[in-house]
Amino acid sequence: MSDSKLEAAWARIESLAAAPEAKTIRALFKADPDRFANFSQRGAGLLLDRSKTSVSPEVQAALLDLAVAADVEGKRALMASGGIANPTERRAVLHMALRSQLPEAPEACAEARATLERMREFTEAVHRGELRGATNQRFDTVLNIGIGGSDLGPVMVGRALWRAGDPMRPIHLGNVDGHGWETVLPMLDPRRTLVLVSSKTFTTQETMANAHLVKRWMEASVGPAGALQHFVALSTNLKATAAFGIADDHVFPFHDWVGGRFSLWSAIGLSLALSLGWDRFQALLDGAAAMDSHFLETPMDQNLPILLALTEVWHVNGLGLNRRAVLPYDERLRRLPAHLQQLEMESLGKRVTVAGAPVRRATGPVVFGEPGTSAQHSFMQLVHQGPKPVPVDFILIARPDHRHIENHRILLANGLAQSEALLTGRNAEEVVADMRAAGADEETIARLVPHKIFPGDRPSVTILMPHLDPFTLGALIALYEHKVFTLGALWNINPFDQWGVELGKVLATPLVRELEAGVPGADHDGSTAGLLAELLRLQG
Ligand code: F6P
Repeated sequence: MSDSKLEAAWARIESLAAAPEAKTIRALFKADPDRFANFSQRGAGLLLDRSKTSVSPEVQAALLDLAVAADVEGKRALMASGGIANPTERRAVLHMALRSQLPEAPEACAEARATLERMREFTEAVHRGELRGATNQRFDTVLNIGIGGSDLGPVMVGRALWRAGDPMRPIHLGNVDGHGWETVLPMLDPRRTLVLVSSKTFTTQETMANAHLVKRWMEASVGPAGALQHFVALSTNLKATAAFGIADDHVFPFHDWVGGRFSLWSAIGLSLALSLGWDRFQALLDGAAAMDSHFLETPMDQNLPILLALTEVWHVNGLGLNRRAVLPYDERLRRLPAHLQQLEMESLGKRVTVAGAPVRRATGPVVFGEPGTSAQHSFMQLVHQGPKPVPVDFILIARPDHRHIENHRILLANGLAQSEALLTGRNAEEVVADMRAAGADEETIARLVPHKIFPGDRPSVTILMPHLDPFTLGALIALYEHKVFTLGALWNINPFDQWGVELGKVLATPLVRELEAGVPGADHDGSTAGLLAELLRLQG
């Protein structure tokens, strides 16, 4: 598609956004009694409701024109066929091959299947007690050492799905902070602990420091000869896993066509297979595969990930709303916002286009979140009454896995009430009427009315899930993965590289040496030099 068509599509969106009615949502419900039905779509067992946004039928048409002009479907086809969808690293992007059959990428699918088969055999051998530790005890705990994509996905899914009585207890060690290790240490019996070193590169400083720390602990506990029997590596770097001393049959590889933040479906998911059991890990993959099919086969005007991405474009580029909150109304999804922070901000926090030119429009927003209802008592004040709206993703689960039905009713009612309050607001007349009805005097009313007004017309989307289980969770995560891909296509940025994390890594290396030697280096900026000197002084 030509540049002029693309620019025309952006211009149309920008002009619709500049119109006075662009931010009104209540008026759209008045104009269309079927707005909920018209702006709610279903896919892979999920329902996505975008009716509480200011996307009108005209805006929707303009956004879909943009998707055509940006060739979202062509770029999607390139990714699914194993083409170079990550051009800066010259890599294919095939995380879908880990869970779906991609007719144009049969080799990747076959390789993924072979590794999954090995993972299944390993998992079942551990569960049957055929694979044991150095002291011949059965493994009952899996310790996953990894960071970023080698940690957040497994942690988030583990917290969402693990229940007492599941095959193994999952423990995660991500941060290099020794306090993290001190926290998990009392939970571990080395004789019964299987350690997974999860690192795509097997060079990440934090992960390798923790892996060596845990190796020394294991050697001291079960003896140097047997310690490595407790170690498994999940990595693309087979030279480095061998150098660490991990035997080939304890190494589960994956390929550079799997990005870290898209890797929980690969060998990086082994802690999930071990802790949840193979069938539930497979159901997670099946849920993601269902969302893959929906994404690949559904027309754009019904396609959940594409519609979610287009709604974000409207908020970010049309209305200038460059923050978004994610509120899962399920305590088990408490690490979902952290996973989405990495998935979205590491992917979409880019300042140049695929070709390396500065972007001319805003890209990825800041993403943050907390489970509801806790979020209501922390940052929702700002979302309701701060000067600038913050779009919200509400995630509601119809059927809980507990019997405390009254609690669940309160939970769901609060989730619905938050999105309703953001939409409808409370104007001055309503506030005055409420206060008079409550018997307030006129002086108090005049003083408090401005503080009690809620502007309303604040946007949110709601994702409704029938139940939280491996299948629906797999579909939910894949929904956000494909949304990220679509935004990359619309903004013409590469969502699959992450050069922005490199510089800090490079600068940390000499600083480690200077902290060790107690001598600050000469070439730091004034602030860093001052802080380093003060740290060394405080350490004595
Ligand atoms: O934070 C940067 C990053 O490269 C992430 O993309 C990745 O998930 C994480 O580090 C961990 O990398 P690795 O799996 O290679 O240890």
